[in-house]
Amino acid sequence: MDNRLITADKLKEDGFETTIRPQTISEYIGQKDIIDNLKVFMEAAKIRNQSLDHVLLYGPPGLGKTTLSYVIANEMGANIKTASGPTIEKSGDLAALLSSLEEGDVLFIDEIHRIPRFVEEILYSAMEDFKLDIIVGGDGSNRNLRIDLPRFTLVGATTRAGDLSAPLRDRFGIVSKLNYYSIDEITEIIKRSSRVLELEINDNAAKELANRCRRTPRIANRLLKRVSDFALVKGDGTITLDITKMALDSLKVDKHGLDVVDYELLKTIIYKFNGGPVGIDAIAAAIGEEVSTIEDVCEPYLMQIGYLKRTPRGRVVTDLAYKHLNIDRENK
Ligand SMILES: Nc1ncnc2c1ncn2[C@@H]1O[C@H](COP(=O)(O)OP(=O)(O)OP(=O)(O)O)[C@@H](O)[C@H]1O
Ligand SMILES: [Mg+2]
Repeated sequence: MDNRLITADKLKEDGFETTIRPQTISEYIGQKDIIDNLKVFMEAAKIRNQSLDHVLLYGPPGLGKTTLSYVIANEMGANIKTASGPTIEKSGDLAALLSSLEEGDVLFIDEIHRIPRFVEEILYSAMEDFKLDIIVGGDGSNRNLRIDLPRFTLVGATTRAGDLSAPLRDRFGIVSKLNYYSIDEITEIIKRSSRVLELEINDNAAKELANRCRRTPRIANRLLKRVSDFALVKGDGTITLDITKMALDSLKVDKHGLDVVDYELLKTIIYKFNGGPVGIDAIAAAIGEEVSTIEDVCEPYLMQIGYLKRTPRGRVVTDLAYKHLNIDRENK
């Protein structure tokens, strides 16, 4: 859908993301358990004078996987090379990437679940033994070549850990799941972004925004920008509670951060499928959205706030959601 702020994809206006992206571990807000553990592992690697073990970061879009990868490289004093699963199509692509690495480098592969299986196999020995196995030659005279690689740290990010093959997943020494932020953490992120972007925001406005951004930093930052537009045009530039409410209502983001697609999703299950259980494909077809959008963006948050349940027989809308939508389950 056009003009949606709540998407998995990066929008054109997200160019400012790099400006406000935390660079160091002390600027990285929340995800305390992950951060505390990473600090220990990074410290230990430094004491041993070794590269950090390979790290897999997974969780819904916009929670800070890419940001954390850069923070890790920064804290390790390492150079970072970046790639993305969909651009690694052939074994040669991955081999070229691996052979460009230098001692201690961080190799960040985003959407790592999208590397084709036959290409992915090259990663196994690279990650485990720091060896690159390639086949050279052709027309019947194929030879296996084993090339030494420098010690590097692979940081893989994915929204879909379940799509990762077991052999690949097993080769990550550190596996961390990013969770939705607390309202307090999101409020802090909003205040930090406001400082960086030099925006004036009242405390109660920051809190309101925090309640309506799906506890997701990317969405918080996007909404902050939109709200600041309203403040500039409809107010005196300061982001107040009233301005925030007005802006978010205009953007059709409700008090729990649900947008039109969430409403459509919940209402479709309620009215067309009697509240569920219903399969994901039927829902996707009924509302005209991609299955992946529903699975990666809508569902994780709706499940987190207890509006949707996933059962073996399909998705079910909960009583809480009926209440929020003000729909009577018996007389709808
Ligand atoms: N812990 C955090 N503290 C402050 N800001 C954060 C934090 N995590 C993320 N952000 C902000 O949110 C934006 C989105 O984060 P990021 O791009 O790292 O998400 P992601 O998990 O990689 O998303 P995707 O799955 O779409 O790749 C960043 O630009 C950053 O400014
Ligand atoms: Mg990312």
